[in-house]
Amino acid sequence: MLKLEKDILTDKPEVDPAEGRDHVLAQEFSVFYGDSEAVARVSFGIPARLVTAIIGPSGCGKSTFLRAINRMNDLIPHCHVTGGLVFDGKNIYSKQIDVVALRRRIGMVFQNPNPFPKSVFDNVAYGPRLAGIRRKSRLSEIVEQSLTRAALWDEVKDRLGQNALGLSGGQQQRLCIARALAVEPEILLMDEPTSALDPQSTARIEDLIGELRGDYTIIIVTHNMQQAARVSDMTAFLYEGRLIEFGSTKKLFTKPEEKRTEDYITGRFG
Ligand SMILES: Nc1ncnc2c1ncn2[C@@H]1O[C@H](COP(=O)(O)OP(=O)(O)OP(=O)(O)O)[C@@H](O)[C@H]1O
Ligand SMILES: [Mg+2]
Repeated sequence: MLKLEKDILTDKPEVDPAEGRDHVLAQEFSVFYGDSEAVARVSFGIPARLVTAIIGPSGCGKSTFLRAINRMNDLIPHCHVTGGLVFDGKNIYSKQIDVVALRRRIGMVFQNPNPFPKSVFDNVAYGPRLAGIRRKSRLSEIVEQSLTRAALWDEVKDRLGQNALGLSGGQQQRLCIARALAVEPEILLMDEPTSALDPQSTARIEDLIGELRGDYTIIIVTHNMQQAARVSDMTAFLYEGRLIEFGSTKKLFTKPEEKRTEDYITGRFG
């Protein structure tokens, strides 16, 4: 079995996703780059207000799947999808979907912190301003609230006017989370959000994920098995674009159904 540094999984409650509603539902969903099928007919439901980890070896389609959820793949030429990807009862790829509105409801945080070269305040106020909020007092309120939720307020409350690029990497990543939260999304997509961070900043982000859990649906891609075991309720294991196994994190890491899952989580490949 996976050797975890402490017994993270022992205290983890077994999650029954059938109890909650599916916030995102993939039905035979594929993503192609030209003729190559990077995500291959995956079917599973991502439960609302829990943390779902997506794991698998490099190139297995994790980022492709994650980006598909808020249609970031639209910008890539020759990329197309088949099958269904349903959010809130509607197919994300139907012609009626307003992509800007979709991305407001489904926020994203990337591997490398990417704040705008603007002040801390303006980074967080960016989305709300785009959404038409102009009143300074309202913007200040949103900025404080979002930075507090992202566990960054105390560190930056006296330097809101300073350039965000002057923050440490870990602070920049929490700022990016605050920026995503400022438009009150329902889902937060995180693609290896800590892989560019030191262990201490990583721990802060993991704690933060724990605090946001319950209020947001969080989908996190990670190469770190310990991290998946620590932060997630559900885990999806992808291999060569296919969904090999999906289930509660506790079950998948302790009693996987599939040999390939076991081989991957025990570090035999990947
Ligand atoms: N823009 C693109 N154009 C063409 N092929 C792409 C593009 N992006 C990804 N691919 C291919 O799609 C497959 C899945 O890539 P993806 O980036 O989703 O994998 P991943 O699981 O996120 O990998 P990693 O763990 O290395 O980040 C790979 O074979 C990759 O080469
Ligand atoms: Mg990736």
